[in-house]
Amino acid sequence: MCRACEGVLSVVLVSDPSLGGGSGRLTGVPLPDLFDLLAPLYDRMIRADDEPPLLQHLDLPAGGWLLDAAGGTGRMAERIAGAVDHVLVLDASHPMLRQAMSKGCCLAVVAATERLPLADGSLRRICLVDAYHHLADREMSVRELWRVLAPGGRLVIEEPDIDRLAVKIVAIMEKVALMRSHFAHGEAIALVLNRLGAQVELRRDGHTLWAVADKPAA
Ligand SMILES: C[S@@+](CC[C@H](N)C(=O)[O-])C[C@H]1O[C@@H](n2cnc3c(N)ncnc32)[C@H](O)[C@@H]1O
Repeated sequence: MCRACEGVLSVVLVSDPSLGGGSGRLTGVPLPDLFDLLAPLYDRMIRADDEPPLLQHLDLPAGGWLLDAAGGTGRMAERIAGAVDHVLVLDASHPMLRQAMSKGCCLAVVAATERLPLADGSLRRICLVDAYHHLADREMSVRELWRVLAPGGRLVIEEPDIDRLAVKIVAIMEKVALMRSHFAHGEAIALVLNRLGAQVELRRDGHTLWAVADKPAA
């Protein structure tokens, strides 16, 4: 285990750019394999801004570790890496993470957000971008993200805003494509976080919403 990882990772699952072949799906996690298939094309299909608003919502720069949960190809991690000490990209898809590792900006871990192999309170910043609606168990995932967030830390959930017509249409298209995604209203996401004791602010811009959750300092 790398020295910087001590106290963060309870198990090292993957940190090697030459991740083995085959499906990276964890048994028992009912996820579509779509992202395994899309991985080599993903960054060309969905581009990240040079300075995504997420940086501001995460209140960066900050020291310590940032977890990009369900971070896929590291599309966002790459943009964030200069603003924190260390970035960990966690995802259920081996092929998506293989792309992330090729960028050389972060450590990668294959795991489901529903059961994080991470120590309690070990990360100062956590983001979950465009993934909440794909998670098999959203409440369990948020509970886990909250558990590993350090006191005084911040968790930001970025999602397409289902209150916008264009996003409603995308949601219908994903249903037709049998993607099993479940888009939630910002208020519903905030409620899950509030129940855990988070102070939550909902921010919106265009078709995107951010649930910004601060964990009280110990
Ligand atoms: C639309 S992509 C977003 C990737 C990345 N956050 C971004 O914005 O580029 C959704 C990602 O969520 C991952 N995913 C879905 N369910 C997951 C789960 N339960 N645990 C971990 N990753 C998951 C998929 O493998 C995929 O990489």
